[in-house]
Amino acid sequence: MRVDVVTIFPDYLAALDLSLVGKARRAGLLDLRVHDLRDWTSDRHRTVDDTPFGGGAGMVMRPDVWGRALDDVMGAGGGDGGPAAHLVVPTPSGEVFTQRHAEALAAEEHLVVACGRYEGIDARVVEHYRATGHRVSELSIGDYVLNGGEVAALVMIEAVGRLLPGVVGNPESLVEESHGAAGLLEYPVYTKPPAWEGLDVPDVLLSGHHARIERWRRDRALARTAQRRPDMVAALDPGALDRHDVDVLAGLGWVVDGGRLRRLEDGPEQGPGEGTSGTVAE
Ligand code: ADE
Repeated sequence: MRVDVVTIFPDYLAALDLSLVGKARRAGLLDLRVHDLRDWTSDRHRTVDDTPFGGGAGMVMRPDVWGRALDDVMGAGGGDGGPAAHLVVPTPSGEVFTQRHAEALAAEEHLVVACGRYEGIDARVVEHYRATGHRVSELSIGDYVLNGGEVAALVMIEAVGRLLPGVVGNPESLVEESHGAAGLLEYPVYTKPPAWEGLDVPDVLLSGHHARIERWRRDRALARTAQRRPDMVAALDPGALDRHDVDVLAGLGWVVDGGRLRRLEDGPEQGPGEGTSGTVAE
């Protein structure tokens, strides 16, 4: 996969030399190029922004500078040997970036990430690339405001990069993680030593009984999701639940009703927490 990032702070992206993404670059799995937007300015001061039409606080990034930069890095699309690049614009006013976006973007051959600063990029830039047949995704990494798109670009590139074939050493670790196909948060995990600070690893995990371990993990995933992310429980497909799942969820105050999960208004409390000595149904 090729990823081009355009920013006025190329050094921000230096972290992409580290860890798994850095390794993927060195292994040739990810061709990541970072560009300085100011290379496409045409004045002595290398200006990339100006005051907003209509007034108001802050500065807006100029469309002409962005247009020259993106025309160069996006490629013609189709004609130049590869498919048209998918333009990603991190912005707090975008759709919220999820694992589903990461999966879809990981299937692309070429991403271009346009990092805005100040009050954002002139709206005609996104309009122009959409109108000229490019796919454009304006994505937010969450309901808070950063000073620019660079940190969001780091987040998205890491989330996408680890899904590329060969990047994560053991692809099985991608199967059971939070926000995976099961629609649940991941169960709690433990390693050695089995006793630490008076806290014991749950016996079942030391039992070697794979079916019971699997059931325990699923119960903990259900309980954790119900406690922390009721929106994810409400989105579960009841048809994908077994009888034991339904019982566990009932104990957490959720019932199947009209083909959907519904929380009982005055149902029981959200079940035990994650204390290792808790009495969790096995
Ligand atoms: N730029 C500023 N805030 C952002 C956010 N929350 N997500 C993506 N890009 C941003």
